Amino acid sequence: MIIENIIFEFDNTLIDGDSYVLFLESISGRKSPAKKKSFGSAIEQYKQEFPAAASHDWDNLLQKAKPLAKADFDSAARALVDRLFPQAKEVLSLLHNSGRKIYLLSTSLDLLVRPVADHLGICRDNVFTNEVVVKDNRIVGTDTSQPLSQSLGKLYLAEKLRSEGRLSNSTAIVGQSRSAVAIRRNNIAEMFIYFTEGKENEEIREQADFVIDRFDQLLSLFFSDDELSNMSVPFESSVVTSPRQEKAPKILLLENIHPKASSRLSGNGFQVTSQKPALDEKELIQRGRGFHALGIRSKTHISANTIDQLKDLWVIGAFCIGTSQIDLDAAAQAGIPVFNAPYSNTRSVAELVVGETVMLMRRVFEKSTAAHQGRWLKTAQGSTEIRGKTAGIVGYGHIGSQVSVLLENLGMSVMFYDIMDKLPLGNAKQAASLYDLLETADIITLHVPDTKETRGMIGKNELQRMKRGSSLINSSRGKVVDLTALKEAIEAGHIAGAAVDVFPNEPNQPDDEFTTPLQRISNVILTPHIGGSTTEAQENIASYVSYKIERYLTTGSTTGAVNFPEADIPRLEGKHRILHIHKNVPGVLAKINTIFSQRHINVEGQMLQTHGDIGYLIVDVDHQISEQVFQLMQHITETIRVRRIT
Ligand code: NAI
Repeated sequence: MIIENIIFEFDNTLIDGDSYVLFLESISGRKSPAKKKSFGSAIEQYKQEFPAAASHDWDNLLQKAKPLAKADFDSAARALVDRLFPQAKEVLSLLHNSGRKIYLLSTSLDLLVRPVADHLGICRDNVFTNEVVVKDNRIVGTDTSQPLSQSLGKLYLAEKLRSEGRLSNSTAIVGQSRSAVAIRRNNIAEMFIYFTEGKENEEIREQADFVIDRFDQLLSLFFSDDELSNMSVPFESSVVTSPRQEKAPKILLLENIHPKASSRLSGNGFQVTSQKPALDEKELIQRGRGFHALGIRSKTHISANTIDQLKDLWVIGAFCIGTSQIDLDAAAQAGIPVFNAPYSNTRSVAELVVGETVMLMRRVFEKSTAAHQGRWLKTAQGSTEIRGKTAGIVGYGHIGSQVSVLLENLGMSVMFYDIMDKLPLGNAKQAASLYDLLETADIITLHVPDTKETRGMIGKNELQRMKRGSSLINSSRGKVVDLTALKEAIEAGHIAGAAVDVFPNEPNQPDDEFTTPLQRISNVILTPHIGGSTTEAQENIASYVSYKIERYLTTGSTTGAVNFPEADIPRLEGKHRILHIHKNVPGVLAKINTIFSQRHINVEGQMLQTHGDIGYLIVDVDHQISEQVFQLMQHITETIRVRRIT
């Protein structure tokens, strides 16, 4: 969850103390200067003089105590600025500068709150307080038509702000009152940060998502470790625990994974730590200790040694498509499923192919390059519409079938070739052979995996079989096309053009040199493997993989794991789940069931799946198993790992 709005309460949250009491202190102190040293008794005396002041009710005080003028509030307001909690101003300014909207909600009086809010730099439109009514220069009460003068005023006002769209997206409330709890409970805020100022109320603590007693702790909730280390003011980045989260599994997300992942996981109660850089083996072993889940992208390598050292690790999420950076076998042997997001960028690739189809058939890139060089290639020669032409799709899987739908909607006939029998979408037709497709299509797009059969699948011979003047798109895998043969076919004028996104040898870093035989050839679009590189794809990956991690941690589901037996059974209400990962040899299930039956533990549901030499059992039992039963399961010779989900 990315928090965009932060509501602060005022009394005991921004300022140390209650503004009502502090105001009484101020005016009673002024009234009896001699008693300034003993404000407590000055206030008592004032309350005796003006019993209305004893009720902690602003309206009552303003109407029934001695007549007050605006000036009576000035020195009280100045005193409140001095009562601001340490670092409140700096923290609010950092939060504001990070693009978050800061709101202040207070049932105290505007004459006291606004000067403090101005000092803190909070936008006046975002400050909501109890407003006074002034008549003949005298304050005669509060404006009772305003929500904040009513009971449940803060809740009502926050609800109003949300319904007006001012609290769109996620909101946190920082405070310590029951109103803050109510705002969180009514889901007007997605996060309640209990500011205890050192004095905790157990009931309120129970309702909090996070508990803090210093302002700088707020920063570790809203900024990454990296951002904190770059802050000009040295803040202590202390870990903030929440009663709900203290027992929650810990997740470490590396490599700048899209924030949707951390917001989803932390929103669902996990303890999430995010950090930007990829880590080398040594750093990962140090940093990863104590974490139950690890989220990486392609630059962090997870070796067998790392897996061996990270004893608490239960699951790995590869927030990308490939998993070659992870020793999958070592992970499986350690009982750790690995999840990735194989199809999260399908649409992104399909859209690029559609765009390239038009660009190639209109020969746009050669004209664009010429225009950049000051040449004006205004000609219709060799440029055609795609409408009415035939697209040939090789590999009718996730991407190929999407391309089929999109191109058909643009008026193309679609033919596809796949080694499997596939259900054609729309009016697409499956070709009897690759050669049938090559000979018929005006543009051919490749969407096959990298296999022994597909490597070199499009070579000199296949290019010759393609229709004269047709074009080729490859955004699948680099070794599928013989690029030298493609260059020759284009230079010979047999193939009109090509768009290539993937290459047999791709640079690792932006500064590494990139060469391909296709450079400097007219009507060839070269892209650096960006078919799936879009914001939406990154978001989809973040949602998909974090969902998989969450499901594994909360239900044991391994559906979609790349290295593990796939098992998933619905959780039964009131039952207790145990996950048992073991070596896949005969007799393990019998050993487990013997332990249960000897102790009269009733098995309510179970599923055993195997994958290679790993067996995975999910079992639901009628009551919580004892530590002794847990130990017995752990001591079965073939056990790799046992986990209880309560
Ligand atoms: P998929 O697995 O859903 O589809 C592949 C299809 O190819 C299947 O229908 C399969 O039966 C078929 N196929 C396999 N061998 C074949 C053969 N010898 N001849 C004809 N058909 C064959 O895969 P998806 O998600 O559609 O991806 C396709 C390709 O796109 C993959 O190579 C993937 O690595 C690549 N890709 C490239 C991206 C980029 O950034 N350029 C991003 C995402 C994927």
